[in-house]
Order: sequence, then structure tokens, then C-alpha cells
Amino acid sequence: MQNESLPAAGAPILRAEGIKRVFGKGAQAFTALADIDLELPEGSMVALRGRSGSGKTTLLNILGSLDEPTEGKVFLRDRELTGLSGAERSAVRRKEIGLVFQSFGLIPLMSAYENVEFGLRIAGAPKAGNKEAAEQALERVGLKERMKHRPTELSGGEQQRVAIARAIAHKPSLLIADEPTAELDSVMGLQVMQVFRDLVRRSGMTILMTTHDPGMMELVDDVIALEDGRIDSKTARQARQA
Ligand SMILES: Nc1ncnc2c1ncn2[C@@H]1O[C@H](COP(=O)(O)OP(=O)(O)O)[C@@H](O)[C@H]1O
Ligand SMILES: [Mg+2]
Repeated sequence: MQNESLPAAGAPILRAEGIKRVFGKGAQAFTALADIDLELPEGSMVALRGRSGSGKTTLLNILGSLDEPTEGKVFLRDRELTGLSGAERSAVRRKEIGLVFQSFGLIPLMSAYENVEFGLRIAGAPKAGNKEAAEQALERVGLKERMKHRPTELSGGEQQRVAIARAIAHKPSLLIADEPTAELDSVMGLQVMQVFRDLVRRSGMTILMTTHDPGMMELVDDVIALEDGRIDSKTARQARQA
């Protein structure tokens, strides 16, 4: 039963065309990305893989509108992000995008709850409803019972889940995570992946993450491999096509 007015399931939420990123100028110029074309289907979980230095972080920063490409275009649904002013880009991020990093980036003196609530405040969310949004986000990552704990009282996996709660508290449609499991052992890494899977299934979120762990690649829908700043392959897993 499909509603005709809704976009078809799996329509791209994010699209990149002809992305090139050059750092530096003249003789020092270094091309970190070239000829990047990709689409992220809405409600999918996609891994970007590649050796260290292959351009993963550079590409995530561009797709997450933290950075501008030297050439090419990025669209979030039908809206072109490239060419927007810094203020406009940050407005798009605050509404539509959540960001998670390898080093969790939590504030040590704040509890899990305070970290998430503070994240909402610095993003300019209205105060009314922040408490509920923060608690709901912590519940989503399975940490509501531990929300009064400070980061040092939590395991690495729990800390990363707090960081994920902070990234999703404003209910973004796209979550971008740069090596979110790199600092975790395999059990905690798996818990983070289960949280991601649950966010895709229950909230319809789209998740793009980087990893070089082959075990993690088994758990995503699509894998995009980067090599020396170019796309080497795109693999859609059978599960998605079924
Ligand atoms: N701000 C920058 N200035 C100059 N070179 C950069 C900058 N950021 C990244 N690079 C270079 O671009 C390449 C890709 O880096 P990065 O995207 O961080 O790779 P990855 O995340 O896959 O390890 C590397 O060679 C790196 O040194
Ligand atoms: Mg990186």
C-alpha cells in the first residue's frame, strides 16, 4: 500500500555529482577526491571503506556539508547544498544531519543526559522539549538507565552511544559517522552497529559511515570503496535487492 504522494522507498536522500576536492594551491595542490558520483537511498545503511588517506573523511565532510568541494554538486533530497553560505549550510546540518566521530567528543564533566541536552542547546534548539528529546535519544541507544553517568563511568561503547544520542536528538534524516567503531573492541563495535540498524529500521534514518573493519561491512546495505580519492567499487548487498 503505497501513498502516491510520498517518494518511492529507497529514493536517494543524498546525491553527489562529480565531486572533486583539491587541497592547497599551485605546486602544493593535492587532489584528495576526484570523479565522485554517488547516491544514498533513503533508509539505507552505507559504509565507505578504503585505506587510511584514501579520502573517506574528506568525502564525509563534504557530504555532511562541513566542507565544500572544489568542483561538483551535493544534493540533499532536491536541495543543492553546494553553493550555500556557511550559515545556510549550518542551518541544514542542524535540521537534517547528525554527525558522529571516532573520538566520541563528550564533555567529561557532564552526565550523558547533559551532554545530549547541551548538544541540542548549542545547536540552537528551543528549550521547551529539549529534556524529552534528550531522554528519547538516550532511550533509542539503550542508555536511558545510565543517563546520569559521566563519560568516565561508561564503557567506550556506551560513550559512543551517548555521542550517537547527541547526534540524533534533533531527529536528523541523515546520520554521518566517521570511523564510529574504530576505537571499540568488536563486541562494543557490534552494539554500535545494532543501534545504527535500529535507527534505520525504526526511524527511517539513512546512515553513512566509514570503516575499515571487514566485519562491519557485513552489517550494512551497501559498501562504497574509495581508492586514492576515487570510487573503486560500489557493492549492493543481496539483502537490499530482495
Ligand atoms: N585540510 C587538508 N589539507 C591538505 N591535505 C589534506 C587535508 N585534509 C586531508 N588531506 C589529505 O587528503 C587525503 C585524504 O585524507 P582523508 O580524507 O583524511 O583520508 P581518510 O579519512 O580516508 O584516512 C590525505 O592524503 C590527506 O593528507
Ligand atoms: Mg579519516
